[in-house]
Amino acid sequence: MERFQNTSLPDWDWWGKLWPTPGETLRELGLSTGDTVVEIGCGNGYFALPAARIVAPAPVYAVDLDDRLLAELEHLADQQRIDNVATVRGDARELSAHVSDPVDVALFANAFHGVDDRDEFLTEVESVLADDGRFVVVNWRPLPRSETTVAGEPRGPPTELRLGPEETAAIVEDATGLAVTAEIDIPPYHYALVFERRA
Ligand SMILES: C[S@@+](CC[C@H](N)C(=O)[O-])C[C@H]1O[C@@H](n2cnc3c(N)ncnc32)[C@H](O)[C@@H]1O
Repeated sequence: MERFQNTSLPDWDWWGKLWPTPGETLRELGLSTGDTVVEIGCGNGYFALPAARIVAPAPVYAVDLDDRLLAELEHLADQQRIDNVATVRGDARELSAHVSDPVDVALFANAFHGVDDRDEFLTEVESVLADDGRFVVVNWRPLPRSETTVAGEPRGPPTELRLGPEETAAIVEDATGLAVTAEIDIPPYHYALVFERRA
């Protein structure tokens, strides 16, 4: 298993400054009670844990290839008495091997810029979505890295790897039967796209 390019987990302290209310963000992206969710590349659960609170009692499958981050996520889930999150150690390139039931939402936050074989990855994502499922991509806007500062430091992936919403939409739509149904601005530096199956 190999990590996608430039997808190390940010430090929780500056990540928390950038995303002070992850639950509110997830609700803006359309998450609601009863949605079954897979978070692809969940890290230590910065989004997976609030997602689990929102969708409970439906499950959140939290997929990552990093054992240490998944252990941290499990510890936080215990502390916060969240019991509807299931960690899955695996490579996102083989998502369908790790998620057996179709999901309402596949969330992919802050990592699409690093995916090597996009067609292969997107085919896997599409295959785990329920018929009316949504693929939600959150990512950094294609601003110069020197301009995306948090706590006084430039943050996020290198400028040359960043993909804007139009480029991301075209990549996903060309590779799958999904189409953009919503674009959401997440100030100061992010956007989200919601994809659903074409009618
Ligand atoms: C930048 S972090 C984002 C974490 C979380 N989504 C967030 O936004 O807070 C990217 C995560 O993707 C994971 N990752 C990278 N490549 C992966 C792969 N091929 N399969 C599964 N997880 C992967 C990394 O271990 C890391 O935890």
